[in-house]
Formats: sequence, C-alpha cells, structure tokens
Amino acid sequence: MNFLVRTGQSIEADVLVYPIFMEDALDNLSQDLKTVFEGLKSKERFKAELGQVYLFSERLQGEIKDIIFVGLGKKEELSAEKIRIALANVLKKGKELGIESIAVQAISSDKLCFKRTVKAMVEGMALANYKFDKYKTDRKEGKLKEIYILNVVEEKVEKAEKAIKEAEALVEATLCARNLVNEPANVITPKELGKKAKAIGKEAGFEVEIFDEKEIEALGMKSFLEVAKGSDNAPRFIVMRYFGDEDNKNDILGLVGKGLTYDSGGYSIKPTDGMVTMKSDMGGAAAVIGAMKAIAETKLKANVVAVVAACENMISGKAYKPGDIISSMAGKTIEVLNTDAEGRLTLIDAVHYVIEKEKATKVIDVATLTGAVLIALGNTTTGVVTNNEEFYNDLQRASELSGEKFWQLPAFDEYKKLIKSDIADLKNIGGRHAGTITAGLFIGEFVQKKPWLHLDIAGTAWADSDKDYITKGGTGAPVRTLYYLVKEKNSCCNK
Ligand code: BES
Ligand code: MG
Ligand code: ZN
Repeated sequence: MNFLVRTGQSIEADVLVYPIFMEDALDNLSQDLKTVFEGLKSKERFKAELGQVYLFSERLQGEIKDIIFVGLGKKEELSAEKIRIALANVLKKGKELGIESIAVQAISSDKLCFKRTVKAMVEGMALANYKFDKYKTDRKEGKLKEIYILNVVEEKVEKAEKAIKEAEALVEATLCARNLVNEPANVITPKELGKKAKAIGKEAGFEVEIFDEKEIEALGMKSFLEVAKGSDNAPRFIVMRYFGDEDNKNDILGLVGKGLTYDSGGYSIKPTDGMVTMKSDMGGAAAVIGAMKAIAETKLKANVVAVVAACENMISGKAYKPGDIISSMAGKTIEVLNTDAEGRLTLIDAVHYVIEKEKATKVIDVATLTGAVLIALGNTTTGVVTNNEEFYNDLQRASELSGEKFWQLPAFDEYKKLIKSDIADLKNIGGRHAGTITAGLFIGEFVQKKPWLHLDIAGTAWADSDKDYITKGGTGAPVRTLYYLVKEKNSCCNK
C-alpha cells in the first residue's frame, strides 16, 4: 500500500486527528480540546458536519502539536461510508501540509462494529491517497509514510490489526484495478492485459491461462472474434481460476469482465470527445482482476473463475460492419446494426464459455456497457439487470459493506422483444430507448437460466474529477463489492 498503518498510543506523529460527531466530541477528547470544540461550534467555525476539517495548533503535554478536527456528521447516522469520506478529507488535508505521519483517534460507535470502523478508516485514507502520475517526469514521491490508529483498547488490538490487513488487501486490489484502467491503450493492449493478469495471479495465488487468437478460434468464439478482427493488436482470452472451497467443489461463481482495451466505436465511429476516455472500456476486466486478487490474497472460502475477452474495437479493411450477420459460440446468430455496441458481442462468448467450459453455476458480468446508464443513474450508481432477486439481494448486502451503490432496472419481457431481429436470432441494439436494459438482456440470452447479475459500470468505473476517496480516472469500482459478495455470504465480523 502507499503507506503503513498500525495501532499505537504514541503522539509522535506530525498531526493528531480527532473525528468528532455533530452532537458531541468523542469521549477520549481531553478537557482542553473539548473546550476548543465547544468554542468553535459556538462561533460556527467547525460544526462537525460530515467531512468538514479544521486545522489548528495546541500545546499538548508541553509540545506544540498540529491538530485536525474532522466531522463525522450526526452520531445516529454514522456509516462506514461516512467514515471513509471523513478520513479521505483528513488525508487530503495532511497531504496539503506535506506531513509524514498522521495519528487518528479510533472511532467508537454503537452503529457499527469495531472491525468495520477500522476498515473504513484505512480505506478512506488509502484510497484517497492514490494518484496516477507515473508518466509525469517531474512527479514527486509522496511524503506520507505512516498512519497510526490511536487508543485502541488492549482487547481490541488483534481485531484492529486483522481489520487493517483486510482493508489493505481491498485497497491494493482497488488500486490495481485503477492502475489497469488508467494505463493508456497504447500500453495496455489485449496481450499486455493478459501478461498483467498473469503477473497479478502469480503474486496473489490464482491460476491464469491465456488463449491466443488461434485458440479462441478453436473454441468457436465467433462473436468475440468479429469485434477483434478490425485491429492489428490480436485478441486474448484470459481465464483466472481460484478454488478455495474444497467442500463445495461444484459451486463456482463465474465473473466476466468486459475487456475492450480500446473502443473507437468501429465503423459506427465515436466522436473524439467520446473516444478519449475509451481506454477505460476494460474497466470490467480490471474489476474482475482486482476482485480475484483480493479474493485469492485473503484466501476466501469460495470457488471463482473470472474470464476476460480482451480486444480492441477498431476500423480497418478487415473490421466488421453495420449490417453484418455474425454467429457466436452458443450458435445463436446476430444482426450487427451498430459496431459500437461491441461489448455485448464479446461478453456473450465469454459468458457462454464460463458456463460451458468452466462449469460456473452463477454468473456476474461487469461491463462499461452503455452511455445510457449515465443518463439513467449518473456516475454514482451501477445499473443492474438480473434474473434472480435473491442474488440481487446478496449484491445489495455486499454493497452496504463496500459503500458502492447499485440499482436494479426492470427486465420485463417487453424489453426482450426489442432485441429480436427479423433476419437473425438477435440484433445487437434495441433502439434509442431503454438502452441499458436491452444491452443487459442481450447478455441474458446467453446465461442459460443460471442466477445472473449484469453490472453496467459505464458511469461508475471512471471519474472526471476527484471526490472524497474516489480519484480522477479509473475508480476501481466495483472491486470491493465483488469481494464482499464472494466472502461467506457477507458475515462481515462478529461485533
Ligand atoms: N464502451 C461504450 C459505453 C460507454 C459509454 C462506456 C460511455 C463508458 C462511457 C459502449 O461500447 C458503447 O459504445 N455503447 C453504445 C451502445 C449503443 C451503440 C447502443 C452507447 O452507449 O452509445
Ligand atoms: Mg462501443
Ligand atoms: Zn465499449
């Protein structure tokens, strides 16, 4: 991770941080600091609103210390997400000051168990501390080296350390996904994405197999290959396997990540403005690779196979064209009405593969699939299409732990009619309306009644600016939710 986190009692750190509720100061605030807080509150300088930070100096035990008060909002409304937001702001303030170490008072609340509280503190700070600056020749090393969580009572130290470890694994996995998305398409080609996955798997402890173009052809992935064939950079099919649950060998979760390392739109070409961020069209792939990393590193008791059909959507004499009729690994035929609706064509072969060849019993596909999801839900919420309410409820429970947001869209049969073709089995667009739903349902045609979640992350995988612990560029969504979904049906901790 980008800094070290540990528990401690020391006030040697450069700055001391006191998280504070709107109603009252924490119990462990000294009488002097309580007086400072009351004074600030009455002057309306610092009201402890969520994320509000206030910096001042104070003589503590004979030494002048920098102190940050950070607001947690109302005590009754505390959540892990609010802790992440508050601590992200602390981190930013600390960075502004150029400090090397921060010591934060542990937060105690009857709203949340202790482990979740500590995890959220670490996540908020570590995720906010990320910056993709490797291509800036004048970049400077971050100064921040250490974070202390203070005043953890003796009996809880072990719990805190466990929470820190889990948070670190989650942060590393999220930052890994951010890095993959932020790397430009001239660096992350399909071949390079395969190499990265292999290296990540080797380190984290999952198996990675990579199929080249000939092998993809032999598997019969006709739909995927149609999209890939317009590019000089050959496609790769990446398979990542983690078997951590011997007792339930036949329960296998299939994760499928959209892996367009670049999407120009093909002959249905995108305008330049829409094209500049299309290196992020492998955000789904990055998310499933990141999730596999966290799952394998923390050795979760689960069996997961993640697959990525990696390719570029380009223009050339060999590229597929609007009007083409193509086939697929499942044998269904598709009328291509728009070459920019390419993601679903790669995903259907990947979904079919993970069910047929890897024997997945449940499937989640994760894809930057439609601009329409941004219109419907904005950039805060991932759109979901599903055939299984129970599975969706599991996702919602996992999302409460991660703080990432999801919302289900309707999947009525009327929408399915919109993707039926007159001259082939399906067409790859359903018209102007309900674009996110028809895109999801297109993939749903290939899931063979397996419990399935389709996560459209076109709005959430990429951020145009920094916000709380989200940093500009790739966000790493929804790595942490996928992890919690896989983790023992979400029993987070024992209070
Ligand atoms: N990769 C895009 C979707 C996208 C848009 C991702 C904006 C991130 C931000 C996808 O391949 C695409 O082009 N979808 C089309 C579908 C349409 C042709 C039915 C779209 O959304 O315009
Ligand atoms: Mg497209
Ligand atoms: Zn795309």
